[in-house]
Amino acid sequence: MENTPFYFYDLDVLNQTLDAVSAETMHDDFHVHYAIKANNNKKILQEIAKKGLGADCVSGWEILAAIDAGFSPNSIAFAGVGKTDEEIAIALKHEIGVIHCESLEEIEVINAMAHELGFYPKIALRLNPNVNALTHAKISTGMSENKFGLTVIEFEELVNKLTDLNSVNIIGLHFHIGSQITNMRVFEELCERITEIVPQFVKMIGPISYLNVGGGLGINYENPDHGLIPDFESYFDVFRWGLRQLDLPVHFELGRSIVGQCGSLRTRVLYVKKSDQKNFAVVDAGMTELMRPALYGAKHKIERFGVAHVDADRHKYDVVGPICESSDSFGNEIELAELKRGDILTIRSCGAYAESMSLRYNGRQEVGNNLKRKVNTSLRMIRTA
Ligand code: LLP
Repeated sequence: MENTPFYFYDLDVLNQTLDAVSAETMHDDFHVHYAIKANNNKKILQEIAKKGLGADCVSGWEILAAIDAGFSPNSIAFAGVGKTDEEIAIALKHEIGVIHCESLEEIEVINAMAHELGFYPKIALRLNPNVNALTHAKISTGMSENKFGLTVIEFEELVNKLTDLNSVNIIGLHFHIGSQITNMRVFEELCERITEIVPQFVKMIGPISYLNVGGGLGINYENPDHGLIPDFESYFDVFRWGLRQLDLPVHFELGRSIVGQCGSLRTRVLYVKKSDQKNFAVVDAGMTELMRPALYGAKHKIERFGVAHVDADRHKYDVVGPICESSDSFGNEIELAELKRGDILTIRSCGAYAESMSLRYNGRQEVGNNLKRKVNTSLRMIRTA
């Protein structure tokens, strides 16, 4: 086993997932944009671009990375509550598919820049549907108290200013209510709200040709092997049925459900420390490589690499990282076969929001391209144990 820790990606799983997405969407006017923020590893982006998906980007860097990996500029949606002028210029110059806007001032800035640079960009307005995603509060975005989306006051002001905004083409609407959503009722409610909102919007602003319902489909963290491919069938059925009256193309921005299960984090046990109350397994990966447990209390399945589950020989460990923070823990009382220094652990379901959220805290990564990064990204086609 090479130097640890490293992210391990199983491209077979990724491709099976992508095939499942296309099987469920090919007969409808459905368009899936991969949310690059979930994982921007170049090889992963290239695989996804090859399958013909669009991209959902949230920074100028992500737009350039998407184009570099083979996504067509026309398939790119650019979102984000705080786009800089430089990022807007990148979007304009590459003539990307659509810019999702979240405030009146942002629309005015885009309008002015488009006028000056001679572009006529397509924009969609992000509205807040006030739907409770029933997920972790920190990854819930569709309630009125969240910072996302145009507020009602700003929307009314926009309607009054429409004639001034003549360098942008308002093509439609964007919604996104949160992430790691496993209850399909939440998406049904989103469809109900959209079905109410769209006719009102059309009355005030005019006909639309674009509807984007965001992402958010969750994955099975508890038992990844029972949910390696997320339930795309039920998910897309909800929208097929729930939005049928509108008769519009529907765009999706899926991140976690596409890449979550294809990745894992491999880490080595540095020390096993015993106390009268518990055992700690101190490993060489930390919150710097996988921040989700520290940030959201997220739980990822942990397995001992290369060891089949032996029920007779189970020991409990708090699996902790080397970072100088008490929150640097991957889980308490994790049942594993007995561990010793040098054993390798696999932390599952790390394809999404792991590598892309990694940090340099505690000097964990060398800056620059010619220095070997401490965390290798390995792309072999071997399945985890
Ligand atoms: N569209 C928008 C506007 C978003 O904000 C997001 C995710 C997505 C699409 C993709 O959502 P997905 O299909 O991956 O659920 N770091 C957190 C997740 C943050 C999600 C942010 N927005 C985590 O580790 O759980």
